[in-house]
This record gives sequence, C-alpha cells and structure tokens, in this order.
Amino acid sequence: MTQGRFITFEGGEGTGKSTQATRLVDWLRARDLEVVQTREPGGSTGAEDIRTIALNGDPGRWSPMTETLLMFAARSDHLEKTIRPALEAGRWVVCDRFADSSRAYQGVGGGAPAAFIEALDAAIVGRTQPDLTLIFDLPVSVGLERAFGRGLFETRFESKGLDFHERLRAGFLDIAARNPERCVIIDAEGDQDTVEARIRDAIQARLL
Ligand code: TYD
Repeated sequence: MTQGRFITFEGGEGTGKSTQATRLVDWLRARDLEVVQTREPGGSTGAEDIRTIALNGDPGRWSPMTETLLMFAARSDHLEKTIRPALEAGRWVVCDRFADSSRAYQGVGGGAPAAFIEALDAAIVGRTQPDLTLIFDLPVSVGLERAFGRGLFETRFESKGLDFHERLRAGFLDIAARNPERCVIIDAEGDQDTVEARIRDAIQARLL
C-alpha cells in the first residue's frame, strides 16, 4: 500500500482557505482518491477538546509559549488518531492549518522562540511533514474585511491589531521562502474559481 499524500492549507484570516479546502477535497474524490478532510487545532476528539479551550476565554491568559504547547498537544493527538492512520492506509489528508500556523501565530506574531517551536515540531510532527503546503496570501486589509463580513472580527485571533496581521503575513511568506520544496504561495485575491484553478495547478505540478 502506498502512503497517502499530506496537504496543508495555511495563511492569515479571511483568505478563503477553508472553502478552498472543501473544493479541493471534492476534486480529489472525483479522481477516485480517498481523502480525509481535517483541521487544526482539532481533527480528533481530544484535539477538538483542546481547540475549545484554546480558542475561547480571555485571549490574554496564556503566554505565546503556553499557547504553543496547547497547539502541539492538540497536534500530537491529531497525528496519532487521524493523520498517520489515514496516510498509512493510503488516504490523502487535506488539513486546514498545521504547524506553520504555530510558527506564524505563536512564533512570529506572538514572540514564542523559533527554536522552541522547531524542537516541538521535530519531536511531535517528526517525519510526518506535509508533502505540500499551500500558503494563502492576501493583503491584510482585504483579509480582515472578509473576516469582518463573516462576523469573525471579534473572535480570539481576528481581534488582534493590524500590526499583528502584517507580521503574520510576512511570517507565512518567510516560511514559504525558506521551504520552497514543500510550500507554494497561492494568490488568494480574485473569485473562488480563479483561486481554485491556481490550487489545481499547484497540485498537478507537485503531486499528480
Ligand atoms: P479558525 O476559526 O479555524 O480560523 P481560520 O478560519 O482562520 O482557520 O480558528 C483557528 C485559529 O487558531 C486561527 O485564528 C489561527 C489559530 N491557530 C494558532 O494560533 N496556532 C496554530 O498552531 C493553529 C493550528 C491555529
């Protein structure tokens, strides 16, 4: 049995990546591939419980390091219960956010040390690195306007300042620049069909 492929979707707020993840899953299934669609934080029973704690309540009550540990605790369960079993069974896994979100949000955005995050990544993600990471890129003002339109502006992470979101965007672009074999930047401006075509091109070029 060949291993399945592991694809992650990353980017700031309001980039439309969750909608596009569903579209990609439909497209892959139409090609007779078995696909598991999942998300982080979450994606397994235990990790969804951690998600509830992590994304609710007073956003200031944890340091970026504590938040990083919560994200990796959820990730550890998600990998054990959902991602690795699926890949070993030959299924493809499409995951909405993964370790690059910890690098960008807790690391670049929050100030958790990069070495701390990389040590956790090595210990917990280890060899289960994504085969392909799509980094959705959008000017911050456009993304926040979209998120605001969805009524998400006041939630846990969206309510941080503009400066935070600018750092986040730069952080994701830097991750892409440093990992060109794994990452593709997706220009998230334009209508959904246009963005979907860009994603299909990336999948065709890298994985099919
Ligand atoms: P969600 O409502 O799923 O947002 P989105 O549609 O933008 O993906 O909330 C997930 C939030 O969790 C999002 O604001 C980013 C944050 N997050 C981290 O801060 N670190 C992480 O490692 C992960 C996976 C997510």
